[in-house]
Amino acid sequence: MKILMVCLGNICRSPLAEGILQEKSNQLNLNWTVDSAGTISTHEGELPDSRSIETADKHEIDITGQCSRPIQISDFEIYDLIYVMDNSNYTDVLELAQTAKEREKIKLILNESFPKENRNVPDPYFGENDGFEKVYQMLDKACAVIIEKYK
Ligand code: 4NP
Repeated sequence: MKILMVCLGNICRSPLAEGILQEKSNQLNLNWTVDSAGTISTHEGELPDSRSIETADKHEIDITGQCSRPIQISDFEIYDLIYVMDNSNYTDVLELAQTAKEREKIKLILNESFPKENRNVPDPYFGENDGFEKVYQMLDKACAVIIEKYK
């Protein structure tokens, strides 16, 4: 499987999602390709937010090899699935898709753990530090479902 995780800035939520899913796939020797991107290029070239790095580190996941980048048209061909973190990301990514097949690849990640509820992964960027741990837990559950579904 080739899976792309997408949020707004690609520094808080999608880097965690990438790290968590990559770790789970590595543990099962699944050889999946997991990457992440943002819908904006404001943070292009930057490391994940230090709070995401710390949160991942607490769970023994290293995300310091990641580097923020904006989503690009070629991603729709490369990846089998594109998981977005919230409904706003969904609208933005949908606009970039060029065919029905590409549009079908776009999924709200929390619909894996809460089917059809269209829940958002809350943006922890402007919030308290524990927002990052809450996001981690939500993503960990969703990624466990993704692994079971496609392994
Ligand atoms: P992310 O969080 O989308 O989870 O990476 C944000 C990162 C940056 C900004 C907003 C949210 N920003 O406004 O720059």
